[in-house]
Amino acid sequence: MSLSIEELRRGLAEHGQEHVLAFWDSLDEQGRTNLAGQIETIDFQLMERLIAEWVLDEPPAERFREITPVPTIPKADSSRADAREAWEAGEEALRAGRVGLLLVAGGQGTRLGFDGPKGAYPIGPVTKRSLFAYHADKLHNAQDRYGCTLPWYIMVSDTNETETKTFFRENGHFGLKESQIKFFRQRMAPCVDERGKFMLEEPGSLAMNPNGHGGVIPAIVENGIARDANERGVDTLSYFQVDNWAIKSIDPYFIGYHVLRGGDMSSKIHRKNEPREAVGVHCLCDGEYRVIEYSELDIYPQLLETDKDGLPRYYAGNPAMHVISLGFIERVNDHFVDFPWHRAHKKIAYVGADGRVVKPDKPNGYKFETFVFDALRFIRHDPIALEIGRLGEYTPIKSFEGDNSVVAAWSSMREYWGGWLEAAGHSVPRDAQGKVAIEIEISPRFAFSKDEFLSKASQLSLPDSGNVIIAGDGAAR
Ligand code: UD1
Repeated sequence: MSLSIEELRRGLAEHGQEHVLAFWDSLDEQGRTNLAGQIETIDFQLMERLIAEWVLDEPPAERFREITPVPTIPKADSSRADAREAWEAGEEALRAGRVGLLLVAGGQGTRLGFDGPKGAYPIGPVTKRSLFAYHADKLHNAQDRYGCTLPWYIMVSDTNETETKTFFRENGHFGLKESQIKFFRQRMAPCVDERGKFMLEEPGSLAMNPNGHGGVIPAIVENGIARDANERGVDTLSYFQVDNWAIKSIDPYFIGYHVLRGGDMSSKIHRKNEPREAVGVHCLCDGEYRVIEYSELDIYPQLLETDKDGLPRYYAGNPAMHVISLGFIERVNDHFVDFPWHRAHKKIAYVGADGRVVKPDKPNGYKFETFVFDALRFIRHDPIALEIGRLGEYTPIKSFEGDNSVVAAWSSMREYWGGWLEAAGHSVPRDAQGKVAIEIEISPRFAFSKDEFLSKASQLSLPDSGNVIIAGDGAAR
């Protein structure tokens, strides 16, 4: 603790937040150190602005003269010359060691109700292998194929850093070299109540939340990740979210389009199922590349329009997959103060006047976050937005059941890998609706694509009946 209690009190009082020291006298040394440490990290000027604009006043919606769908590159397949060229350029960048992986895993994952970092979620329906293990398998696969070492940069936050690192250690870093995995921490922002006052989650701890995945931009620069990447000769980062087991985190097509077109930041998009689907929408707002978040759709009703076939006119859903140039991150970091902040009205547990924790049953305060896709407005080239299909690429888990859930992910694993097994001549039982009726898990270390699977299928000895589990080394049971 570098500031004295008098200095802390004075500083807080200047911003009308001195109430957070209400329990100071009853705190032990550790509580005081923790609380003082949290207070010292706060950017008071920023918080004052956010509270004035977003809590005490109704935030003005941005108005655009014109919103148009973003132009997209059709799904890549090797029948098209441009796609073949992209594939080759992507593979070349991988072989040359220019690519690193950037995983954002600092979120709180509250909707899933899982007690631990979201990446530790046991997504394997039979093996219970974690999301992190699936992501690591893909690194192994690409490293074997391209003869490179892919550095893996993982953003964590105060809410899950220790548990995440412990999980990796306990799992032997999933067979990867410890030196190729770098965890780095994003900043936190205080939550505020409906009067704009900071909240205590415990007498000796402020209620704070990670500053959103937009926080990855300053965090990369501040934590020496940009330097590490530069030293390794990495200039291109493949960005993905922790919650999607199916992500093609190392996709030569995507990397290739980015590299060939001199991209600052490129995106994948998927066709929205329906206008209100809970995903962001890629579009051009007065010519500038933006993603409008699903929570803000009502502000821009045209984004809910459908075409003559009843399909969303603004179809480009955001699966949160990007390729980003390191130089762009370093440049955009200089504009980070201009990034928009987004507010979420949430139920936030707080300490009442009697020192007891109150768990509200309706939203009682705000969290503030920045979003990485707000960097898209700073690109200096035409949008690079590559369309993808969902099966085998986009199945995020936000909750246990329903759309974008664990149950939906299991079902997509069955259908995706069931198709591979059938193509290899294995008979897969299906139910009356034609759905695959067994559990299937194929380690992406063994095969990352159907073609790769078929090229190796002859070496497999598959079980005659029941579930099919294929490990990274091809051992089947
Ligand atoms: C996100 C996107 C949405 C997209 C959807 C696709 C936002 C605001 N929206 O929605 O446009 O269609 O994913 O699945 O992101 N994270 C951090 N630090 C933070 C906050 C989040 O690292 O401070 C990470 C999480 O660990 C997770 C990812 O960012 O890996 C996404 O967070 P999440 O809250 O799940 O976003 P969604 O609302 O689902």
